Amino acid sequence: MQQLSNKRIVLGVTGGIAAYKSAELVRHLGKLGADVRVVMTKAACEFITPLTMQALSHNPVHLDLLDTKAEAGMGHIELARWADVILVAPATADFMARLAGGHADDLLTTLCLATSAPICLAPAMNQGMWRDSVTQENRDELLERGVKLFGPDDGFQACGDVGPGRMLDPEIIVEKTSELFTHDILSGLRVMVTAGGTREDIDPVRYISNHSSGKMGFAIAEAAIEAGATVTLVSGPVHLDTPERVKRIDVVSARDMHQVVHDHLNEVDIFIGCAAVSDYRPAEVAKEKIKKDAENSGEMLELRLVRNPDIIASVTGTEKPPFVVGFAAETHNVLGYAADKMRRKKLNLVVANDVSDSEIGFGSQSNEVTVIGEELEEPLPRASKKVVSRKLLQIVARRFRKWRAQNETNESIGS
Ligand code: PMT
Repeated sequence: MQQLSNKRIVLGVTGGIAAYKSAELVRHLGKLGADVRVVMTKAACEFITPLTMQALSHNPVHLDLLDTKAEAGMGHIELARWADVILVAPATADFMARLAGGHADDLLTTLCLATSAPICLAPAMNQGMWRDSVTQENRDELLERGVKLFGPDDGFQACGDVGPGRMLDPEIIVEKTSELFTHDILSGLRVMVTAGGTREDIDPVRYISNHSSGKMGFAIAEAAIEAGATVTLVSGPVHLDTPERVKRIDVVSARDMHQVVHDHLNEVDIFIGCAAVSDYRPAEVAKEKIKKDAENSGEMLELRLVRNPDIIASVTGTEKPPFVVGFAAETHNVLGYAADKMRRKKLNLVVANDVSDSEIGFGSQSNEVTVIGEELEEPLPRASKKVVSRKLLQIVARRFRKWRAQNETNESIGS
């Protein structure tokens, strides 16, 4: 159930005896890497304390709709936007009725109205209440609106009755919740993306760099989060906001980037080198601003440059490299040079980017690339960098699985 890793779950707890099982539910979700925020109704607090839920979720518990403290931090609208899913367990007959009626008179119903995330309910009530025609109508209404119901289960009830209305076991609720995310093609995988250009100092006020804006790398990082991965983004100096949930590490020079990449490489399954790394840096960095004085009076100023480390080649050169995807920004013979880079740098895939067209490549909103790999040449048509990233990651996910299976086979033959 790796799909739950990194997922943001609002767990709503309403006032029924099954509320004690919600504590178990929080524990299971947390163990699987989900970030859980608990919202409790007033009645729920009669059955289980907010302190218990706070301790188990490691997050503050949300109780009131109008909470001045929460509004300054994570108010109801932020919470509604934050959630990948709202799971209400237990969901009482009263809660179902209020949700079906479109009420927004407490925090939980308001969140459910405001969110665009899926809503799932695990009903829990007396069998007579569940069978009642009004509850059944509410159930139908909620299903019609796209709310998902997990259960209820059938069996012995706390009140002594036997029949439908028991809350499902927490393990089953967790399983059903994780099934919501099975389309997440990079679930549980750790992806590192490099983005932007690097800056190589000439003196305290000048540097060598390039036109990379970081947009492509940031779009890949965002798409990887959407696809369920845990993402580390190593970025050169850019003017972009960090996509939500991405761990961003800022660097300046190629050597900084090289260091940071290797510091975190053992936490990486897939490495995507989208950065436009300066191949060279000045051999010496002047301590003071270079002046047009007697010493530099001519029309020419010569800078001696030395090679920077090739970051991506150093990644593929490690003892147990991750799956590595490189980019090749070219102005001519784009596919030929890209394929050559793939071989030389021992990449699993290379993304050929024709940067002679100003509408795509450096600084633009859109891109159009060709993904090259072993027996693969797949063009990704012109689209926003976000859309291109999503398509690219579909190929990456497919090839990664094949590569990993192959590695596992080789290891078992070797052992
Ligand atoms: O940032 P944007 O404005 O959105 O623009 C996106 C982009 C054009 C920068 C991007 O799509 C792209 O093509 N990035 C690679 C640019 C590049 O410099 O490629 P290259 O051909 O020089 O390098 C080939 C590969 O080796 C790249 O994966 C690069 O990250 C890597 N490399 C290069 C040199 C070096 N010293 N270390 C490296 O890791």
